[in-house]
Amino acid sequence: MVTAAAAALAAPGGQDAGGAEGEGGDGGARQLTTLRGWREFVAARPAIPELLTEDEWRLQDEGSRLSYDEMRLAHHSRLLVVATPTIQQVITEGRRLQYLNRHADAGRCGLILSGPARTGKTTCLTQLGKTIETMHHRRHPHAAGHIPVVYITAPPAATPRMIAVEFARFLGLPLTRRSNVTDVLEAVCGVCLDGATTLICVDEIHNVNLGTRHGAEASDTLKYFAERLPVTSSTPASASSGPGCSMAPGASRSPAGAR
Ligand SMILES: Nc1ncnc2c1ncn2[C@@H]1O[C@H](COP(=O)(O)OP(=O)(O)OP(=O)(O)O)[C@@H](O)[C@H]1O
Ligand SMILES: [Mg+2]
Repeated sequence: MVTAAAAALAAPGGQDAGGAEGEGGDGGARQLTTLRGWREFVAARPAIPELLTEDEWRLQDEGSRLSYDEMRLAHHSRLLVVATPTIQQVITEGRRLQYLNRHADAGRCGLILSGPARTGKTTCLTQLGKTIETMHHRRHPHAAGHIPVVYITAPPAATPRMIAVEFARFLGLPLTRRSNVTDVLEAVCGVCLDGATTLICVDEIHNVNLGTRHGAEASDTLKYFAERLPVTSSTPASASSGPGCSMAPGASRSPAGAR
């Protein structure tokens, strides 16, 4: 089952990263890994541009015609997200886990999305985040400062510091070269608790390599967030076989189990 709200989110407004107006409305790709880019993505509800008749189009001066054409080309290049059964299932399961985790004191469950490359894992994850954030703002209409969803991408060969910095970058926290991992973790947890964060999305989790010491520590850092904050963690993990993107609800107690 998927609610009308979730279906609506997954269909018309649901471009993937880089699908619509960029930060600052400059037409470039949005950065979902910054709070500003993420909020633009969540708020995006593109309107269908006006279609002129051929005569009306010809009557325009060259400048207006060019900007009209650009506007329509930009509209058609923003591909829509199809509300596939997998997206609907991920949204339903993610919301269910979010309710369960909200009141859990420890041992919160995460959600792993796995599948071969280019099968829609990131798309599912961003649609889940968009739905959860929209519903949060409906429940708390006067809490504009809340940050219900944090979205980061694990960098290649991720270390604990790199993971902590990604969280800080999303939240726009200032970092100095002297800030150590503990300082950054404390600042991130403080902001997430104040911002009522309920979902942490970690894309490209395969960049956390448990076979290395740094990778294992990065995994522990993600687990630390899941323990400190009343959140649900959702992570796509690439799998080399299988027909498409699938889901393992509650299969992991933390992002550390995503490998
Ligand atoms: N439900 C959908 N509706 C429309 N387009 C989709 C949908 N799911 C995926 N796509 C498109 O398929 C392509 C791959 O999707 P996506 O990047 O989400 O896959 P991925 O599994 O995260 O890939 P990777 O393994 O490279 O991280 C993108 O161009 C995306 O826009
Ligand atoms: Mg992806």
